[in-house]
Amino acid sequence: MIIQAINITKQYKIDKITIDSLNGVDIEINKGDFVAIEGPSGSGKSTLLHILGCIESPTSGRVIINGTDTSSLSSKALARLRLTQIGFVFQQFYLLPTLSAYENIELPMGEAGLSKKKKRERTKYLLESVGLDKRSQHKPTQLSGGEQQRVAIARSLANEPSIILADEPTGELDSDNSTRIMDLFQTINREFGQTVVMVSHDMSITSRAQRLIHLKDGRIIV
Ligand SMILES: Nc1ncnc2c1ncn2[C@@H]1O[C@H](COP(=O)(O)OP(=O)(O)OP(=O)(O)O)[C@@H](O)[C@H]1O
Ligand SMILES: [Mg+2]
Repeated sequence: MIIQAINITKQYKIDKITIDSLNGVDIEINKGDFVAIEGPSGSGKSTLLHILGCIESPTSGRVIINGTDTSSLSSKALARLRLTQIGFVFQQFYLLPTLSAYENIELPMGEAGLSKKKKRERTKYLLESVGLDKRSQHKPTQLSGGEQQRVAIARSLANEPSIILADEPTGELDSDNSTRIMDLFQTINREFGQTVVMVSHDMSITSRAQRLIHLKDGRIIV
């Protein structure tokens, strides 16, 4: 098992208001799985993905990645695990505004010990894979929403992560580009055994996953 989440809860407290975003979620994901998560707005999908990706910690419960209980890791070890094993596509992209598309994609490779030449080749390959080879020098503000989303997807693949967590990765894309991205995820899933977990509302997207998880009010429903 590559990801195991045990009895995850997440509460957010703002002033006197407490929001129960997740209410006891258990998930087991095997290496090479292709999983989609769907559910209404506010049902906890992004929260769950952030917790599986060790970006946020749960209020209670445990996340085990590749046999390691992540609650036992120092913040440095956790950062290392995220950088080397997890590729994350945020719902809001979070590209660095002062960097070009090329630089945003190459940035996570900084610590991965690749030669300059290898980094350049890989960045170019990723730009091509998402159909943006002609936009490499554009800054995020010079890109459309869908183009920014594709840069974010390419960046998530920079270090060939064993786990890809993608939050509505086709939310800004037209159907041709959605198909291109799904083909890309499916290829890396099938050929390289990379595990993909994605959030999506789009039935044409979720139907391509091996498994569909429904979330409602912070719980998995069947
Ligand atoms: N950082 C936060 N602080 C306070 N409340 C939060 C925070 N993040 C999420 N929430 C709340 O937790 C609930 C679940 O949010 P989440 O973003 O996980 O929903 P979602 O299923 O991804 O929704 P959407 O489909 O709109 O993206 C929401 O009610 C939201 O208001
Ligand atoms: Mg969300």
